Amino acid sequence: MTRVLVTGAGGPAGVAVLRSLLRRPDVTVFAADMDGWASGLYLVPAGQRRLVEPGRSPSFVDGVVALVAADSIDVVFSTVDVELPPLAARRDELGAVLAAPSLETLEVTLDKFLLAERCAPLLRTPETALHTEDGIARDWEFPVIVKPRRGAGSRGVRVVADRAGLQSIPADDALIIQEFLPGDEYSVDVFADARSHVIAAVPRTRTRVDSGVSIAGRTVHDEALQSTAAAVAAAIGLSGVANVQLRRDRAGIPALLEVNPRFPGALPLTIAAGVDMPSLALDLALGADLPESLDFADLANVRYLEDVFIDPAAVLVSEYAAHGDEDG
Ligand SMILES: Nc1ncnc2c1ncn2[C@@H]1O[C@H](COP(=O)(O)OP(=O)(O)O)[C@@H](O)[C@H]1O
Ligand SMILES: [Mg+2]
Repeated sequence: MTRVLVTGAGGPAGVAVLRSLLRRPDVTVFAADMDGWASGLYLVPAGQRRLVEPGRSPSFVDGVVALVAADSIDVVFSTVDVELPPLAARRDELGAVLAAPSLETLEVTLDKFLLAERCAPLLRTPETALHTEDGIARDWEFPVIVKPRRGAGSRGVRVVADRAGLQSIPADDALIIQEFLPGDEYSVDVFADARSHVIAAVPRTRTRVDSGVSIAGRTVHDEALQSTAAAVAAAIGLSGVANVQLRRDRAGIPALLEVNPRFPGALPLTIAAGVDMPSLALDLALGADLPESLDFADLANVRYLEDVFIDPAAVLVSEYAAHGDEDG
């Protein structure tokens, strides 16, 4: 049996990864979260529920290393943004394989300015500049988008109508100015092998979004969306799973918005459409054979809440409360 630890058990991505891996007869699944009320903890048997520190805590990785040793974990899945860079930075010390992209990939995707620069030679990217005096002075076509270089959950994203509006935002190189893309928006869930060869790219609409997570949408077969997402994967050296967000320009060409280098909260749709990315990511981590390519079904999803009832005494007692918003 392969022993797998999944962190972020309270989030939609964590629950989706847990449900996927629990279907594999060859895997023993441990679920972890910083919050004892995290729903996904209760998907696994009582003896396989674990508490971890918040990803921002300086001793978070040490805590994971200790869990890996105590539980003889073979593979660690993290579904929490803030946990990924510290885990990837110390992946050789974990004592288990980390099923996540490389630190280099994480760093380029977490900075939307670096990402646009990296991808511009290879695919359609919106014109992007730092929000400095030079950037502001460029000959922009309005409206433009101003957003944080390192942001999530649409926080701080502004549509700026004209030059006066742009000049009213103080120069700040933690912000970028970006060409406005007026077209339809898609999320493409991408899975790439160890050489960044894309095995599956599943575009889907984000028709209804709640707290940054797509809760209703449909998969879309579109060659341009799939090939653009594959070009992004090559540009960032992706190995494993990422969520590539694209939006069409005025001519209808898909252009890059951003990459979330982790499992998205909308993963159940991609899995149900035939591409079980957590299971594939486990095979990649274990060095098992992977298919050359995988297609997906045309499928739509809606989502509802479901209550699960447990013995109050079974609720793990943690010092920490829940996470912030996700994006996927
Ligand atoms: N260049 C752009 N053109 C049009 N809309 C944009 C642009 N950049 C961002 N947006 C809108 O803002 C949302 C959030 O931006 P995004 O780049 O995905 O950052 P994050 O999700 O990390 O906050 C996007 O889903 C999109 O709707
Ligand atoms: Mg986004």
